[in-house]
Amino acid sequence: MMVSHGLYWTLWTLSCFGQYFGQDLQIPDLPPLAEGQSLTFTPENPPSTWRQASWLYNADTTIITAASGAVVVNPDYEERVRFDPNTLALELWNLKLYDSGTYKLSVLTSPGVTITAETSLHVLERIYHVMLIGPEETLIEHESSANITSKGNGTITSVQWMKDNSPLSSSSRIIFSSDNRSVSISPVERSDTGEYQCTYSNPVSSETAKLTLIINYGPDGVSITGPDVVDSGVQVFLSCSANSEPSASFSWTFNGSDTGVTTDKYTIDKTDFNNSGEYICTAFNRFTNKREFKTHALFVQEGGDEGGLSAGAIAGIVIGVLVTVGGICGLIVYLTKTNTIPNISLQQKGEASRAAQRGQEPDLHYEEITDSQKARENRINLEKINEAETYENVAYKNEYENLKHGVLNQPRTPEP
Ligand SMILES: *[C@@H]1O[C@H](CO)[C@@H](O)[C@H](O)[C@H]1NC(C)=O
Ligand SMILES: *[C@@H]1O[C@H](CO)[C@@H](O)[C@H](O)[C@H]1NC(C)=O
Ligand SMILES: *[C@@H]1O[C@H](CO)[C@@H](O)[C@H](O)[C@H]1NC(C)=O
Ligand SMILES: *[C@@H]1O[C@H](CO)[C@@H](O)[C@H](O)[C@H]1NC(C)=O
Ligand SMILES: *[C@@H]1O[C@H](CO)[C@@H](O)[C@H](O)[C@H]1NC(C)=O
Repeated sequence: MMVSHGLYWTLWTLSCFGQYFGQDLQIPDLPPLAEGQSLTFTPENPPSTWRQASWLYNADTTIITAASGAVVVNPDYEERVRFDPNTLALELWNLKLYDSGTYKLSVLTSPGVTITAETSLHVLERIYHVMLIGPEETLIEHESSANITSKGNGTITSVQWMKDNSPLSSSSRIIFSSDNRSVSISPVERSDTGEYQCTYSNPVSSETAKLTLIINYGPDGVSITGPDVVDSGVQVFLSCSANSEPSASFSWTFNGSDTGVTTDKYTIDKTDFNNSGEYICTAFNRFTNKREFKTHALFVQEGGDEGGLSAGAIAGIVIGVLVTVGGICGLIVYLTKTNTIPNISLQQKGEASRAAQRGQEPDLHYEEITDSQKARENRINLEKINEAETYENVAYKNEYENLKHGVLNQPRTPEP
């Protein structure tokens, strides 16, 4: 476009002083647009009449020129542009990346003055095919490093990382590349397990790719829950747990011998005394190839209604004592009645024994008495006999004996 010096000078004067008229030709700026979109440049304050109007791209390519009702379109823009002679607006559709640049409207007004306005356009490629490439190998806590690299097509103006929906920030272990497109974690820790999200974005689009990292660790923190002391004859569970990824496998030993149990739970269906001892749960992680164990001591005590043999023994002893007491009572009553009583010193057991012999007591009772005199290791029997011998004369020493004597008193109604 040829512009004479005179015209140029006029234009310069107008552009210097035109503002005083408050009627500047202007083209509002447009936001960035995506490839393929359409737009319309609609100038503000267009002159009501004009002789010629042109739209130029990057100041030197004429897109369209209109004069005297005729419109000439640059063949490169055919099928993509439309000019509105009333508003001087330029419509452009199916935007290409190369449409980015400046757009200038130049108008030769009726008074013969050329006025111009300019704006710029930014066309962006949409983002697509975003993906994350993570480590292939098994990641072991404190040992492995992990690099996550992102890839994607489109106009990338920003790269942002999240982990489990929270922003991922850098640290001494987590380092971003200078363009933020990859992140390196070294060494990995169990807390790095999670879903990593990388979002590529530009003003017209964004896309997010996800990748899950699993850090293998453990086992550690092995613990056994279960009772320390249980009654015999009950069901007992010992439960073993460990912090481990993947889940640990378990094995149990009892008093140093393998039990063959390989579940987290060790079950004793019905406790017996021989279940008392040391239980060890060993947790093993086949990925980290590490193991850790925990010891648990279990003591099985005599249960309330259980312990068959000794309960029978006690019953036998009690019956025996009752019979003995009854016999001795009878003896004393007999001796009292026959006036042959007591130089039986009640502290002298030999005397009592002889008294028992004299009284023709049944063998059972005699044997019990002599056995206990000979072999004092049988404390229960001895105690019962002592009670039988001394029941009248010796002050009861404790509640236990009171209880015993209370029971023993019943068959012995007559006080000598
Ligand atoms: C991670 O990337 C860094 C540099 O980019 C490299 O030195 C390191 O070997 C990579 N680590 C892994 C596990 O690929
Ligand atoms: C996407 O971008 C990659 C490079 O990041 C390039 O190699 C590939 O050709 C692109 N794909 C398309 C369809 O443009
Ligand atoms: C990388 O990301 C961080 C925050 O995620 C941001 O502050 C920084 O400006 C980004 N750097 C580049 C080059 O994109
Ligand atoms: C305990 O004794 C019972 C028999 O009374 C036996 O069947 C069981 O195997 C024993 N258990 C252990 C751990 O020795
Ligand atoms: C197991 O060990 C405990 C303690 O050392 C011991 O008292 C118990 O008799 C042992 N039990 C068996 C069945 O070996």
